[in-house]
Amino acid sequence: MTKLSEMLKETTSFLKGKGIGEVDFGLILGSGLGELADEIEDAIAIPFSEVPHFAVSAVVGHAGKLVYGTLSGKKVLALQGRFHYYEGHSMQTVTYPVRMMAAIGAHSIIVTNAAGGVNESFTPGNLMLITDHINFTGDNPLIGENEEDMGPRFPDMSRAYTPEYAEIARKVAKEQNVLLQEGVYMGFSGPTYETPAEIRMSRVMGADAVGMSTVSEVIVAAHSGLKVLGISCITNLAAGMQSTLNHAEVVETTERVKGQFKELVKATLAA
Ligand code: HPA
Repeated sequence: MTKLSEMLKETTSFLKGKGIGEVDFGLILGSGLGELADEIEDAIAIPFSEVPHFAVSAVVGHAGKLVYGTLSGKKVLALQGRFHYYEGHSMQTVTYPVRMMAAIGAHSIIVTNAAGGVNESFTPGNLMLITDHINFTGDNPLIGENEEDMGPRFPDMSRAYTPEYAEIARKVAKEQNVLLQEGVYMGFSGPTYETPAEIRMSRVMGADAVGMSTVSEVIVAAHSGLKVLGISCITNLAAGMQSTLNHAEVVETTERVKGQFKELVKATLAA
């Protein structure tokens, strides 16, 4: 098997050849939130399909390209769309873009997603600062041989969601008069939405929101020494808390709050 560090060398030299230089922040834009990448100035866009060692994504609402440029005065490399475990990719494939962000020199990532609200005080359309997560996917991207030059065998997850960034996001939300909920994101594998019983379980376990992404990416970010800001868009109340769930509703809600979401992320980047 090709060593991860060798794969990353191929990927980063390809990206540098395309004009991607210094990167401060990696942005991972979830379902319906990809429009933020359209605001990147002097943008260089590269379809995932062209990037060495990237998989191909085909979910509705996930455009699937890398966009590099300047946003709020910072050099950003955005993933417009992401890879999901439920598509059949390995956790290593799902998290490869995070490895790439670290390898190309980013110091931080902003991870975003659409999520179901478990906390009974949440309303669809709320934004939620992710303060911590529960990995309930049944897998972990770090299972297997550890390449010591990539990170430690047993990474500390105590501060995986960087408290200093959470503090900045809270302050920015206050200034913008935006309600920013906060809580624990519980990651399931999907692709089924959870059952009402699973949601009751998740609440007892301490979840405020549930979704099908993010946890594996943040595990790899912690392993790579990247700082993380996580933001969920609560697109619906989780199973059993409303009549039925569907992807159309997820897309409709992100459509409704994407303006607020974009302003929050841009102002946080600028801070
Ligand atoms: N569950 C899991 N993933 C989701 C949900 C949900 O209710 N809403 C948006 N993504």
